[in-house]
Amino acid sequence: MANRDNTASLSEADELARARATMFDVVQEKTDAQEMQVAVFVYEAPLRIWHWFNAAMIVVLCVTGYFIGLAPRTVAGEASDNYIMGYIRFVHFAAGQGLCYAFLGRIIFAFTGNHFARELFYIPFWRKDYWDNVWAMVKWYSFSASNARRFVGHNALARIGMFFMYLIPSIYAMLSGLSLYSEGLGMDHWLSVGLGQPFINLHGGSLLVHALHRFTMWIIISFVMVHIYVAVREEIMGPQSMISTMVSGWRMFKGKQG
Ligand code: HEM
Ligand code: HEM
Repeated sequence: MANRDNTASLSEADELARARATMFDVVQEKTDAQEMQVAVFVYEAPLRIWHWFNAAMIVVLCVTGYFIGLAPRTVAGEASDNYIMGYIRFVHFAAGQGLCYAFLGRIIFAFTGNHFARELFYIPFWRKDYWDNVWAMVKWYSFSASNARRFVGHNALARIGMFFMYLIPSIYAMLSGLSLYSEGLGMDHWLSVGLGQPFINLHGGSLLVHALHRFTMWIIISFVMVHIYVAVREEIMGPQSMISTMVSGWRMFKGKQG
């Protein structure tokens, strides 16, 4: 059985996967094994470290952001003795900065890393086989296909979710968050002049920026819920490893191709 590749373009890793799959065919004929198992190195260390750090920052930002928008009940005593909102906001801003710096690093790695480090940043709209793969995955996730397609990098449908439900909202969250933060730094601060004021003026005031900043949180939470469900489901039911791939970088293939 050949390893059918469905990623955006044929990279060295894909070629390697094919070669190994062919090698396995030979072994399989000899052993008459029911399952195919091939390993391909996909995600390099900077991408994996970014993923888990980014995930941790998103969790912290959602929890603290939720309480900034819907503050906890008043606590007895002097506000300065408790300083609860102060700590919540401090953690939010610190995690926000962490998210921004990590994202800058992730952009640099998109240029310096392998083919799979760039998949997050674009969708190959112009490729017919890409949409064929998207449709195949829609059928697989809606339980109307018995076998899933194999992907060395992200699966075709996941790329749509990652792009529209994570990448774009997270960029908006960073721009709007930094703009709101710049309000406290003063009108003449470089962050206010360079980003905050133009960004807030574009929205006609900071009220809408607060509202949309908050709204992006719910888009990202929706993405994370589906993302984790799919990652766990694919790890168990899909024809390739998932969560372990984001830990070790290696993709293992098994079972039948859809
Ligand atoms: C706040 C939480 C999370 C966010 C925002 C998030 C976001 C992302 C993003 C943006 C990618 C694409 C990586 C890239 O191309 O650079 C990705 C991939 C991935 N994530 Fe997460 N993630 C989160 C949590 C998790 C968790 C908890 C798991 C495991 C259960 C997980 C499993 C994976 C896997 C397996 C991939 C690779 C999928 C593939 O190979 O096609 N993620 N995630
Ligand atoms: C995905 C990432 C983020 C999420 C989910 C998130 C979530 C939230 C939420 C829900 C609020 C409350 C909105 C309101 O009702 O006013 C908020 C406020 C805020 N966030 Fe974020 N945020 C994120 C990233 C950032 C970043 C990167 C920064 C930049 C440092 C930032 C800075 C702020 C500021 C300054 C406020 C207003 C605080 C206040 O008015 O007391 N956020 N955030």
